[in-house]
Amino acid sequence: MSKLPRLTVIGTGYLGATHAICMAVMGYEVLGVDVDTTKIEKLGAGEVPFFEPGLPEMLAKALDSGRLRFTTSFAEAAEFGDVHFICVGTPQRKDSEAADMTYVDASVTALAQNLRRKALVVGKSTVPVGTAARLTELVRRTAPAGDQVELAWNPEFLREGFAVEDTMKPDRLVFGVGSEWAEQRLRSAFQPVLAQGVPVKVTDLQTAELVKVAANSFLATKISYINAMAEVCEATGADVTDLAEALAYDDRIGGKFLRPGLGFGGGCLPKDIRAFAHRAEELGVGQAVGFLREIDGINRRRRARTVDLVLELTSGEVTGKRVAALGAAFKPNSDDIRDAPALDVAATLHRMGAIVTVFDPAANDNARKAHPELQYGTSALDAAMDADVVVLLTEWTEFREIDPEMMGQVVTSRKIIDGRHALDPASWRAAGWEYRALGRP
Ligand code: UGA
Repeated sequence: MSKLPRLTVIGTGYLGATHAICMAVMGYEVLGVDVDTTKIEKLGAGEVPFFEPGLPEMLAKALDSGRLRFTTSFAEAAEFGDVHFICVGTPQRKDSEAADMTYVDASVTALAQNLRRKALVVGKSTVPVGTAARLTELVRRTAPAGDQVELAWNPEFLREGFAVEDTMKPDRLVFGVGSEWAEQRLRSAFQPVLAQGVPVKVTDLQTAELVKVAANSFLATKISYINAMAEVCEATGADVTDLAEALAYDDRIGGKFLRPGLGFGGGCLPKDIRAFAHRAEELGVGQAVGFLREIDGINRRRRARTVDLVLELTSGEVTGKRVAALGAAFKPNSDDIRDAPALDVAATLHRMGAIVTVFDPAANDNARKAHPELQYGTSALDAAMDADVVVLLTEWTEFREIDPEMMGQVVTSRKIIDGRHALDPASWRAAGWEYRALGRP
């Protein structure tokens, strides 16, 4: 193995922390950087500040190796690193649908101000196309090393819940570069990954930026497509789960991301499709991705329709009714509640006057901070105590395994809405439950 470059990872959230930890395990010397002192202290002490299966064990391994350290100092990072990965968040702006570039711009500026020698800055954050070109200018203007500093784009495709797996062996790598040197640097920064035969696609900067938003838009479109079919099923008495299964046999369609239900949420898909539509409008090609607004609309309607189902099961009046909300995270195996459909439904029902008790195996604490007005249970059964309706909103395995008879004994009425098609309707109905799900008779 040729001498490995030293890496810094700027931003230690879901993406950055995972990248820093996995790269250190794979043999690189890595410095993780964040402006959040609490996060840096926790990570340095071996504690992952969020829920991600397998990551705490990997962090322990990385720290034991002596190859992973954390800092809040950009000067130290600039001094240490040969390749600097930018992994900070690009949330939706408060005043529009565009991406908020504050953190990207601030971190790149802080790093560049300290760059005194040849280095590669690699963007991983999801950004509006054209950002890399803008940042190239910014870096060259700001860095003492001037145009010795190059910029590349390497979008990240990891899924929360599978972050370690997706980082150690991604299905592809995309290197957006402006020179042969940058490509070779990236190849050496991913040597152990490439050695496993992971395909790499080398592109220009703007194509690399676009790959990411195009991928997330496609995934969002696929989910909304099947959820649109669910709406049609509801009007006709057809069954969307049978429909989806039948479609999935066609290899060209495939069954992945074709699970109907409450729809997509999280810190990526919803804000990425909005930012993409916004950026396309700025570029004068808004019409080309105008359908993304419809994709967003279909997705939002799933949440509203789930609330409607609760109303149907409570004879049109939820005020004073007890609702057990099973799940708060945007998907199972995560404690992430950003734009979580589950919490959205729970909070809406509360606003409508229902007494909502939430239980999520990992996200209760995050949910409580964001929605202190809701009540929180200590288990699914605890949340379901005296409930008039139970609503399954996040498909955790432990919810799939609930015994309908046992839960039936603690509720006031045996009524359940399966927002994620996670339960077997026959066994719930056999136990005397009124079972309802979106897109099914
Ligand atoms: C998504 C992409 O899948 C990753 O490839 C990407 O790297 C990441 O965004 C990102 O941009 O950082 P993630 O947000 O972790 O990953 O979650 P997904 O597994 O994509 O699920 C997103 C949402 O779609 C969840 O709320 C999930 O419940 C929902 N979903 C997913 C469905 O409703 N139906 C499906 O068939 C699949």
